[in-house]
Amino acid sequence: MRSIDYDTEQHRDYARGRALTREQLRVWIDAMAAVLPERRPLAGLDVGSGTGRFTPALAEAFGPVTGVEPSVRMREVAQAQSRRPGVRYLAGSAEDLPVPSAGADYALMFLSWHHVKDKPRAARELARVLKPGGRLLLRANFSDHHPRPWWLEYFPRGYEADAAIFQPLHEVIEMFTTTGWRVAGFGTVTEPSAGTRGDMLARLRLRTLSFFAQLSDDELETGFRRLEEAVAADPSAPAEVFAEPLLTLELLDQRPDARNP
Ligand SMILES: C[S@@+](CC[C@H](N)C(=O)[O-])C[C@H]1O[C@@H](n2cnc3c(N)ncnc32)[C@H](O)[C@@H]1O
Repeated sequence: MRSIDYDTEQHRDYARGRALTREQLRVWIDAMAAVLPERRPLAGLDVGSGTGRFTPALAEAFGPVTGVEPSVRMREVAQAQSRRPGVRYLAGSAEDLPVPSAGADYALMFLSWHHVKDKPRAARELARVLKPGGRLLLRANFSDHHPRPWWLEYFPRGYEADAAIFQPLHEVIEMFTTTGWRVAGFGTVTEPSAGTRGDMLARLRLRTLSFFAQLSDDELETGFRRLEEAVAADPSAPAEVFAEPLLTLELLDQRPDARNP
């Protein structure tokens, strides 16, 4: 994949291009609650927190959260948008988390895993910072379990180019299960519609998805022309929904007397 430098691209438009409605956010928080322990508060990490799309909602639902984000600009947007108790943002990455060992009950990585360059190191680092039994919520796509957003088919090589950004599911599972984790769950979450097809087109034009950086100028031009024609037929039709994968991993308790599930 062509890597994205969020300090030079996307940071200005990301919050607008990728905004979630209140209902969409609720669906995600409910899906996360279903795979997290019931006790409260839970200490959370939002790794690759970006503009903080999820961080304040995580704090409200579960307890104090630290957003860890390598891009200065993305972090600035997050900080400007939310100054609330229980939320803080720190510079760092999945490979280098600026937090103490065994302090967090869970870590969320929402569409940030595919940006991680040294994945084995990140898996070890995530294992260091979670408590034994802690959970990693990996909202990632997988090349062989890839969502089919309705607009993707209008772009030449659309599905293929988007799926190629991600690893196959078995590769991710193998890497974690051979380094002290177990799979606690795998499923999909379907957000309610983002609005009308016309609204969605306006947001896609901001190109705040890594997918667009993988296409040539010609492919982008062709894709947007086709998409505009299709949307023009009924711009106020609701944007179609699609299912998105969520993989939950649990850090095995390595202490000698531990009883893992
Ligand atoms: C698609 S955005 C997702 C942001 C946020 N999780 C969300 O859902 O809105 C990907 C984010 O991952 C961050 N990122 C890039 N490399 C990373 C790494 N090695 N560790 C953690 N985050 C990283 C980027 O800076 C960017 O903010």
